[in-house]
Amino acid sequence: MSAFSSPNLGHRRLLAVLIVLAISVLITAGASAQFVPPVPVPPANPITPQKAVLGKILFWDQQLSSDHSTACGTCHLTEFGGADPVFGLHPGADGAFGSPDDIHGSIGVVRRDPVGIPISDPVFGFTPQVTDRAAPNFFGGLWDPESLWDGRGSSRFDDPITGVNLIPVGGALESQSLGPILNTVEMAKDARSWASVTSHLAGTKPLALATAIPPDMTAAIAANPTYPDLFNAAFGTPDISPARIAFALATYERTLVADQTPWDVSMTGAATGPGLTPNQQAGWNFFQTSPCSGCHAPPLFSSGRFASIGLRDINDDIGRELVTGLPFDRGHFKIPTLRNVGLKSTFMHTGEFLTLGDVVRFYQPGAPRFFANLSPGVPVAIPTPAEGPLIDFLQNGLTDPRVASASFPFDRPTLYVPEVSMVQQIRVGSLCLAMLVVARKRKGASLL
Ligand code: HEC
Ligand code: HEC
Repeated sequence: MSAFSSPNLGHRRLLAVLIVLAISVLITAGASAQFVPPVPVPPANPITPQKAVLGKILFWDQQLSSDHSTACGTCHLTEFGGADPVFGLHPGADGAFGSPDDIHGSIGVVRRDPVGIPISDPVFGFTPQVTDRAAPNFFGGLWDPESLWDGRGSSRFDDPITGVNLIPVGGALESQSLGPILNTVEMAKDARSWASVTSHLAGTKPLALATAIPPDMTAAIAANPTYPDLFNAAFGTPDISPARIAFALATYERTLVADQTPWDVSMTGAATGPGLTPNQQAGWNFFQTSPCSGCHAPPLFSSGRFASIGLRDINDDIGRELVTGLPFDRGHFKIPTLRNVGLKSTFMHTGEFLTLGDVVRFYQPGAPRFFANLSPGVPVAIPTPAEGPLIDFLQNGLTDPRVASASFPFDRPTLYVPEVSMVQQIRVGSLCLAMLVVARKRKGASLL
């Protein structure tokens, strides 16, 4: 335990509260045969179908961004493990493209002034900006006390307008959800205000830009054709506020429990699909007896804790230290869940690995590594015969088929791809890899 970031008294108390929350959910939901623990739900924001479907509509509505180009789901596509199948280059800490500290981030919006007119960004010019970390699975961390790679999505959630505390503990998803809407890289023009977000939503037709809209969303919009109607159905009055947007988005996320993987089938005997193949079982046998499972602890294949595996210089991105202020936490990042990791296209907060084979080879003792603040347990010696089964286990044994096929509740509409130019990387010019990425984004356009 003490090997990881600050498991101090505050965290233990938090954990205790979350356990009580989880137990109360279990009691209200009735006994569950599932191995995955119930998602903790803060009492101030109980799950209701009306709130969940409103959250789903908001999550997939590009009109939540200033320029209507980018929904939450643009960077978090379900069938790509809730993460982003395409990436752009961010120059990293040194500000220079093409150096080892570059990041494979998500492509956001073109920089715009407070009126909404495109302006030249110092790094990205008039082309879409790129996030400085890779997008994780948006439903992978439903159990985590804190959200985001560094945990700055805090458990405590305050109303951003009044400052009143709405959720004392267990509100990490609510806290996280409002960040992107005002973030000038992800969804917002400069100096975007909550007043402009809410008045704008009130006047738009929900999901006007989306097609192939799933039945639950279609039915909700048929019954309540405007956003004020949908907020009325979810909250009892038609007012749109950032706190209500956060409550709805977090509620939607809490309905996305990916607990029907082959591993779950093998462990619980549930009849939801095939269990682990003998090869994947061999991979699991290695995994569960190796340090992998100490950090990526089953059944969630995460522990909500923070650690460093020595991926980058700890000064490039100080990670967890941004939140705790503790030098010990410099370069530590959240241990991500491995559920549905086989659907992702890039791995790590830097997005630097493109295959799980690359990830597994990185964990081997011989791989180049940064040792400052390295967490115990890394590197992990993986005997050659175990490598293939381990990769198969990660690639296929932890994939929920409903996520892979974007089936309910993981279904989604098709997003409209605006004719924004994806020439940021072409401007960078010298990097062939980056230009390939541009081609992929264009090719994948019909998918998005
Ligand atoms: C432009 C791409 C982009 C958009 C748009 C976007 N995200 Fe993300 N998302 C990211 C990135 C990048 C991170 C990781 C950031 C970090 O940890 O510093 C992230 C992290 C998250 C996480 C944390 C998951 C975890 O396990 O810690 C959640 C939840 C999430 N996003 C939900 C949302 C919601 C809700 C919206 C819309 C309101 C949204 N995202 C919009 C790129 C995006
Ligand atoms: C000391 C704790 C620790 C150990 C041991 C560990 N991991 Fe990790 N793992 C992490 C952390 C932290 C990250 C994220 C690192 C980052 O982005 O900087 C990660 C990331 C990953 C990812 C990428 C996930 C994603 O969504 O990008 C995979 C896959 C993975 N680990 C598999 C393994 C396997 C397989 C083993 C055993 C061979 C292992 N890990 C051992 C902590 C650990």
